[in-house]
Amino acid sequence: MVEKREKVYEGKAKVMFATDNPDFLIQHFTDNATAFNGKKKGIIKNKGIINNKITAKIFTLLEENGIPTHFVEVLNDREMLVKKLDIVKVELVIRNYAAGSIARRLGLEAGIEFPFPIVEYFYKSDELDDPMINDWHIKYLNLATPEELKYMVDAALKVNDILKKFFDERNIKLIDFKLEFGRHDGQILLGDEFAPDGSRLWNKPDDYVLDKDRFRKDLGFVEEAYEEVCRRICGE
Ligand SMILES: Nc1ncnc2c1ncn2[C@@H]1O[C@H](COP(=O)(O)OP(=O)(O)OP(=O)(O)O)[C@@H](O)[C@H]1O
Ligand SMILES: [Mg+2]
Repeated sequence: MVEKREKVYEGKAKVMFATDNPDFLIQHFTDNATAFNGKKKGIIKNKGIINNKITAKIFTLLEENGIPTHFVEVLNDREMLVKKLDIVKVELVIRNYAAGSIARRLGLEAGIEFPFPIVEYFYKSDELDDPMINDWHIKYLNLATPEELKYMVDAALKVNDILKKFFDERNIKLIDFKLEFGRHDGQILLGDEFAPDGSRLWNKPDDYVLDKDRFRKDLGFVEEAYEEVCRRICGE
């Protein structure tokens, strides 16, 4: 049993707490929702409970398939114990279908399928609104070594293979998702969360949106969508 200590970071959706063991943190999931880099704010009732469950399920599945993650165990409804990471300030986005910013940026119709997964990097910087970056920027800013970057891309593509199949079997199209990695004991681990906050999940075959785009675009039935994802994947 670990003891919960002081708050170490309060983000837009989660709060991280120290524990009596310096190697571990408690990741607490709140119901706070933001969009457009914090310009839109709201509450999605029970989101924290649902995202805690979904993240635990997905990270357990990934561990079983050889992807090392920070997940240790679920502590309660809204909290999980995780290994403390030195977060790499590069967010990796993997896209199987066009949606969101790539559709705008490249002039693509939302929903078209890519013939292969597209990998993008974003600089984790609230002040700069998380701009898209490339290998050269990462090298210049010293955000990750070439070896670390290669590991993260390979791991993210492997995560995509595992999750595309997993969601497909539950009648969900994995449109895109964002991953964060961090360093722990000389190893890179998958960190943060996997939830409808940081992914796009569309129902098959009608493409009904089951993710945070319902909140971003005021589509209604936001909480119901998160619950539906959990109903299909959590209880196994
Ligand atoms: N195992 C971990 N160890 C240390 N920090 C972590 C770990 N897992 C996730 N984090 C960081 O904790 C924070 C989680 O809070 P939240 O997701 O609410 O932040 P956020 O508002 O999205 O802010 P940010 O822009 O920093 O991601 C993030 O900054 C994330 O990078
Ligand atoms: Mg975050």
